[in-house]
Amino acid sequence: MTPLTFYGHSCFSVEIAGKKILFDPFISPNPLAQEVDIDTIEADYILISHGHEDHVADAAEILKRTGAMLISNFEIVTWFGQQGIENAHPLNHGGCVELPFGKVKYVNAVHSSVLPDGTYGGNPGGFVIESAQTNFYFSGDTALTYDMKLLGEFHDLDWAVLCVGDNFTMGYADAAICAEWIGVKQVIGTHFDSFPYIEIDHVAAKATFAEKGVALYLPAVGDILELKTTH
Ligand code: NI
Ligand code: MN
Repeated sequence: MTPLTFYGHSCFSVEIAGKKILFDPFISPNPLAQEVDIDTIEADYILISHGHEDHVADAAEILKRTGAMLISNFEIVTWFGQQGIENAHPLNHGGCVELPFGKVKYVNAVHSSVLPDGTYGGNPGGFVIESAQTNFYFSGDTALTYDMKLLGEFHDLDWAVLCVGDNFTMGYADAAICAEWIGVKQVIGTHFDSFPYIEIDHVAAKATFAEKGVALYLPAVGDILELKTTH
């Protein structure tokens, strides 16, 4: 089992081989995450999918406090480097890095990526993580794209963290198609309910996934899920 802690919007943490891996830290500006004290979040690695404010807002502060290694695209790593973040590894699409807990691959996303001050944030991505403990995919912000079929074909994924909120990303109906293509039966939904544009009907979303035999979890801030390794 792999524990996943949800911090709201697209921010979550996974523990693999004793390492804490935090994704897309956006907590202090999130109206739904006001009870989370970002000073208590532990991280050995912080992975950032793209440059938008709702994915990077608290990253610099947590990186500086924890000394965690930043993994993101070259442009985003360079931007954080200008703010004094030196423990970082840049990737670009299709590239992998081997880390002590497993292998991280930066994969395609159909979206945009500008940093909060207007700096170009490179092209947006998602991540595939492969480890002895578990394999999973985090979509970041993306439309449904046929590229996801490649992930299902060449990776034995156990579960996925997919955006489901519609409007700025794929909605739950497209995310359920993604789940089918990548061959997972457990999906954690992200990028929903944080703002009025992305409020979703939880019952309808879960039913749409259930029709495909996939369990959709729509966690509340602070929820801890235990994900099964199935491959
Ligand atoms: Ni975005
Ligand atoms: Mn977003």
